Amino acid sequence: MVKISDEDFKIFSDTMNGLEAMPEIQRLKNFRQHGDNTTYQHVCNVANCAFYIAEKHHLKVDIVTMTTAAMFHDYYLYDTREMSYTNYQHAVLHPKLSVENVSRFFPLTDHEKEIILSHMWPIPGCPRPKSTEAKLVCYADTYVAALEMGLGRHAWAPMDRAMVCC
Ligand SMILES: [Fe+2]
Ligand SMILES: [Fe+2]
Repeated sequence: MVKISDEDFKIFSDTMNGLEAMPEIQRLKNFRQHGDNTTYQHVCNVANCAFYIAEKHHLKVDIVTMTTAAMFHDYYLYDTREMSYTNYQHAVLHPKLSVENVSRFFPLTDHEKEIILSHMWPIPGCPRPKSTEAKLVCYADTYVAALEMGLGRHAWAPMDRAMVCC
């Protein structure tokens, strides 16, 4: 059982609530990803998982920055079953496309951009994550994607102190 501090949990919850209230985030419910999962559920899973890993290992992270980038990391706005790209092209291009799309309505910081742009490492052509927040989102994305695709697991229970996802 991981002890999540009240202060960190409030920062994470407030950030998630603010982002989930945005119509641009709600729009991600319209896109399928990893089987019959939605992109909205996927980004929520990644945000939850990255936060959980940080708490579990007592890592000092900027929770607002990490959570914001996690929620926007796959903002490419197409269905992967209907895309015109090869899988490799999609892997390399969609982080850049996500930053471009989000930047039209949300002022991403350089740190948030770094997290989004490096989340597909170690695929060739994708930059290596440098910050702790970028590493956590990258690792969480890989882990979550494997669960969603391989095990058909769509969502974790709502975030609470008993949550076990990693
Ligand atoms: Fe992605
Ligand atoms: Fe992802």
